Amino acid sequence: MTEMSDSRFESYLAGCRTRVEAALNNFLPLESVQPEQLHAAMRYAVLGNGKRVRPVLVYAAGEALSVASEALDAPASAVELIHTYSLVHDDLPAMDNDDLRRGRKTCHREFDEATAILAGDALQSLAFRILTRNKSMEADAETRLSMIESLAIASGSRGMAGGQALDLAATGREINLTELENMHIHKTGALIRASVTLGTLQAVNADPDHIRGLDHYSKCIGLAFQVVDDILDIEGDTQTLGKTKGKDQINNKPTYPSLMGLEASHRMAKRLHQEALDSIATLDSKADPLRWLAGYVVQRSR
Ligand code: IPE
Ligand code: IPE
Ligand code: MG
Ligand code: MG
Ligand code: MG
Repeated sequence: MTEMSDSRFESYLAGCRTRVEAALNNFLPLESVQPEQLHAAMRYAVLGNGKRVRPVLVYAAGEALSVASEALDAPASAVELIHTYSLVHDDLPAMDNDDLRRGRKTCHREFDEATAILAGDALQSLAFRILTRNKSMEADAETRLSMIESLAIASGSRGMAGGQALDLAATGREINLTELENMHIHKTGALIRASVTLGTLQAVNADPDHIRGLDHYSKCIGLAFQVVDDILDIEGDTQTLGKTKGKDQINNKPTYPSLMGLEASHRMAKRLHQEALDSIATLDSKADPLRWLAGYVVQRSR
């Protein structure tokens, strides 16, 4: 296994981000088109300073199996649109009631609550539309259906939305570690897992063991991602995070640090990182960006 240097990875990351941001910019309706305020809110939420971890995972997983980046723009954008919709709704007063997101005002603060609700709704619809007939990928109808199915399952009541429901039900209550893990796997893990799946669906003659390994990788980093998000809510700073630190405690959210302490949470993230790496050990150097991303997920400061 060849190692990618930090700087090579940084430029890989920057390249993927530029790529998906250009695609998103094209897919999103223009602000000059009616209804202007809704379109402005959609663009505002999506084109902010996101890390684009899920799109990068789509590219990195696809490229690990020799899928061309051009064929990955649509699924990478679709996943980011669903993720952004989840953030817009997550920040609403009825949920986490946050004022700051990606270093600026949350969508409902910049616009209003009704507009933020509708922007989330419309981002979700756009995500699925992109996967239906968009010409930027040559995927056949069966592959497109599999993409739509994966994204629908991952974002619905048995995935992200279900996890958010568990999160709200757990707010202010005591839950055990099994319940916490179940909540995290759904609210965050499911969409990260789907990102890897969407990346791999266009691979030709992929080794089933590699697909299984990639799926296990995605489950490990999906859970690790939310464990680290919980840690950063305590150890991070608002400026770097681009969202207000300390909100989990204020909102009485059960988190990994609140249940097992910071040290054990760090150990858990480390363990999941290693397990993610082990799952893709048999893949060649085309999977190096995925190896790096696993480290990035647990070492990030935002
Ligand atoms: C934040 O996601 C919400 C979680 C699921 C933890 P990110 O940390 O990926 O947020 P952005 O997209 O970079 O803003
Ligand atoms: C968010 O979890 C999960 C989803 C948006 C689905 P959090 O509520 O912890 O995310 P942040 O910390 O607000 O980004
Ligand atoms: Mg939340
Ligand atoms: Mg939140
Ligand atoms: Mg959080």
